[in-house]
Amino acid sequence: MLIGIKIKKAIKNPKRAIIYLVGGKKAKEKRIFEIMNDFSEDNEILEKLEKFLQMPLKQYHLELIDNELYTSLLMKMARNWNRLGAFGITESRMLYVICRALKPEIVIETGVASGLSSSMFLLAMNKTGIGHLYSIDLPPSEELNEKIEQATLLPKEKSSGWLIPENLKNRWTLTLGDSKKILPELLNDVKKCDLFLHDSDHSYEYMSWEFKTVSLYLKTALLSDDISKNNAFDEFASNHTGKKLKLSNRMGFFIL
Ligand SMILES: C[S@@+](CC[C@H](N)C(=O)[O-])C[C@H]1O[C@@H](n2cnc3c(N)ncnc32)[C@H](O)[C@@H]1O
Repeated sequence: MLIGIKIKKAIKNPKRAIIYLVGGKKAKEKRIFEIMNDFSEDNEILEKLEKFLQMPLKQYHLELIDNELYTSLLMKMARNWNRLGAFGITESRMLYVICRALKPEIVIETGVASGLSSSMFLLAMNKTGIGHLYSIDLPPSEELNEKIEQATLLPKEKSSGWLIPENLKNRWTLTLGDSKKILPELLNDVKKCDLFLHDSDHSYEYMSWEFKTVSLYLKTALLSDDISKNNAFDEFASNHTGKKLKLSNRMGFFIL
């Protein structure tokens, strides 16, 4: 029974399975780093994105590979690989590319956890010299930790966004609280949102509510993780004028 579950998990996530097969903490960290630092699977999704945006994007991807801050971010992640609560690694690199290409002034994201998506936006803003990221995340809570899947937990004694390099934080504002309370207040303050990323509560109710709330202020594009969990992203796309792209089976991109 237990082996059956393990095999199913391995089929669903072959990268993690490989990690289980190599022994020792240091060896695991090294292997994880190598997997995350392998960009070979990015090309397909990058080409999709180039076609969709009708812009050359490969130079942004190459510049990320060369960025020392990014390499040290991956090393930090490798040391805490089992408690990251993170975005897909390939998808996260696309956040950098999109932010680099669109140069948004105001980016809002819901759902921070360790801060991989936040770091990718901030790395791009650091390069362009344009933009501010407003992030919303729930405060730490024992009760929540018990409810949500392990993959969304933070490492012990770390707080939302711990992964974000210190020298990128001048472009970052984090507000802790439920997005249903914080998002309307924030939108009312900043008055517009060039780029929005949903990665908080993936229920239909929350996703459709966040999309609807931000749509009144949205200027350029909307991104969402976990779009296959329900119809909220597809419904948003069919009710608005613009173009929709499913970047992967988890990440959706809509451009106005
Ligand atoms: C999947 S994790 C986010 C991962 C993150 N974007 C990354 O790249 O690593 C989901 C996060 O959403 C937060 N969250 C869940 N429900 C929320 C809500 N109603 N309002 C704000 N944040 C919420 C959780 O606390 C958790 O930190």
